[in-house]
Amino acid sequence: MTLSHTDQPWPTAGISFGGDYNPEQWDPSVWREDVELMRRAGVNMVSLGIFSWGLLETAEGVYDWGWFDEIINLLEQNDISIDLATPTAAPPSWLLAEHPEFPPVDHDMTRHWPGARLGWCPSNPDFRRHALRIVRAVAERYGSRQHVVMWHVSNELGGGNGHCYCDVSAAAFRGWLERKYRTVEKLNEAWGTAFWGHYYRSFEHILPPRGNDAKNPSLMLDFDRFSSDELLDHYLAERALLKEITPDLPVTTNFMVGAEPDAVDYARWAPHMDILANDHYTRSPDPVPQQDVAFSGDRMRSLTTDRRPWLLMEHSTSAVNWQPRNRAKNPGELIRDAISHVAHGADGVMYFQWRASRAGAEQFHSGMVPHAGPDTKIFREVSTLGAHLQRLAPVLGSRVPAAKVGILFDNEAGWAVRRGVKPNNFLPYGAAVRAWHAAFWRRGDGVDVLPPWNDFAGYDTLVVPQLFLVADDTARRAEEFVTAGGTLVVTAFSGIVDENDQVRLGGYPGAFRDVLGAWTEEFYPLQEGETFQLDNGWSGREWTEHVHADEADVVTRYQGGPLDGRPAVTVRTHPGGGRAIYVSAGIDSPSIDALVTDLIEPTPPPVTDKLPGLEVGMRETDTDEFVFLINHRADDAKVSIRGSELLTGLTIDNALVVPAGEVRVVHRRREV
Ligand code: GAL
Repeated sequence: MTLSHTDQPWPTAGISFGGDYNPEQWDPSVWREDVELMRRAGVNMVSLGIFSWGLLETAEGVYDWGWFDEIINLLEQNDISIDLATPTAAPPSWLLAEHPEFPPVDHDMTRHWPGARLGWCPSNPDFRRHALRIVRAVAERYGSRQHVVMWHVSNELGGGNGHCYCDVSAAAFRGWLERKYRTVEKLNEAWGTAFWGHYYRSFEHILPPRGNDAKNPSLMLDFDRFSSDELLDHYLAERALLKEITPDLPVTTNFMVGAEPDAVDYARWAPHMDILANDHYTRSPDPVPQQDVAFSGDRMRSLTTDRRPWLLMEHSTSAVNWQPRNRAKNPGELIRDAISHVAHGADGVMYFQWRASRAGAEQFHSGMVPHAGPDTKIFREVSTLGAHLQRLAPVLGSRVPAAKVGILFDNEAGWAVRRGVKPNNFLPYGAAVRAWHAAFWRRGDGVDVLPPWNDFAGYDTLVVPQLFLVADDTARRAEEFVTAGGTLVVTAFSGIVDENDQVRLGGYPGAFRDVLGAWTEEFYPLQEGETFQLDNGWSGREWTEHVHADEADVVTRYQGGPLDGRPAVTVRTHPGGGRAIYVSAGIDSPSIDALVTDLIEPTPPPVTDKLPGLEVGMRETDTDEFVFLINHRADDAKVSIRGSELLTGLTIDNALVVPAGEVRVVHRRREV
């Protein structure tokens, strides 16, 4: 796959700072205060017009540009760059009234009602025609304005219309299948349709996986792939039009990359972005939200070419509004989160949204300017952050160093785990991947979270957590990685099915059995609350297996229970020194930590002092290094380091104190 986001210049001169700007929600008198406050806070870019379609096009082909002209002029006069949106995420109410067939249909065949957003079927050609009309109109009117620096296509495509099961989608699905399989016989083979006699005689007989009853998992997986491709096709249609009108402007759309399988397959979308952009929100019940921030950055970076910087398009200054209980951020957390994203490779820190809304579905979501106005903790921290980011300008364009630990993440594997009945239906894919990421993160090792088709060379350790679905090619390259001396860690419920979602026979995990020198004859899923104990003190829950360690050494065995004395974790050392570790049991976090400590060499850290809660990150160029020190602790942290500290301007001769809750970034020359 060739990546297109190569040498695109960054849209702002320094690190991008700002947020979604929705001035249509406010009286024009507020707009003047907005730009004044933006300048005060150091905002240099806003995302504009994301949900403005209904206000820009008042009837088919009838436009009301006046207010938008005024906003664009105002931003230009104040030298604020514009990441201009195509407003297709939220179609106007007149359009939806004329086309009740546009909203997507769920698997139970209920059609969405107008009133939310992304309320359109991605396969509907009539919707596409209307969408491209407003895209063209906006691009022709504003694309050549000097301060328009980037296109923001739609918004979080898939967040609301990730799947549509309507008849239009069904026909498009059949076309997609015909292009993929050519003959219905090949499809029957791939899906194993002899089961329940579901053999298809014609593509015409195929339906999306509608309804609530058990469906063929191979069909469901192809429907997930199709749904991602349909939305990508929509993005590409908008992109092609924008490139026709403004060939030099970068085009992106905001991803929602976190630890769960995504609505669409971002790793396959990434090559079509000029700059990669992400929306990331921490979640209230998350015990370690900082690790979730790190995880999303470690994934984003691996989606770009050569770990190029990416743009944090949205996060929150404080509480969101879509969780059952929405936690406000603690003092300093806004700054620590933002700088942590930069430490993980973001060259821009943007928020949803500039001013907290008075009305509408998101009226209790935090903004850069809260309901209480600028004389608040939030706006003061926003302004401090703006000043920090200006001082961090030298970081722009630098890269996070290549990690020694790679963790595979694949949406298709995640989708396949989630869809269809499984031996244990409580094995969330994202949680498994994040648990392994957490162990390395706690130790301070740099980690890349990468798609399985990325190159494995360069990593010392490759972790394959719960990669249920594995292509032959991935399995082969994992084996080559071990032959070349690498350490491969395969965890439970990986390598079980092939790309068609059919079980690999001859003993689990079929894709990795040979390299591991161990195989499983039967799964022993545990019941809720049941735990297991291993003879080295490790423990866990949810999952155990009856393993044979034919050519591997046993690291630890079950103690008690039906598998008493049988291997739970094995290691096979290959002739070149490479190792293949099989973690067949669902071991808990302390046990994962212990395994990582016992079996995997740590990566040398950028600073030698290690304190729990002091997050250390690094970015580098050929000549310079930037060491990020983010103190999540309640007390000061002292670090031995030399260089110049960018936020205070101080020269550090040998030690730096990072005050409780604060951040510091030390610039030093690289040792050659
Ligand atoms: C995002 C979305 C924004 C806003 C935000 C609230 O998913 O793109 O428009 O709704 O969530 O957290």
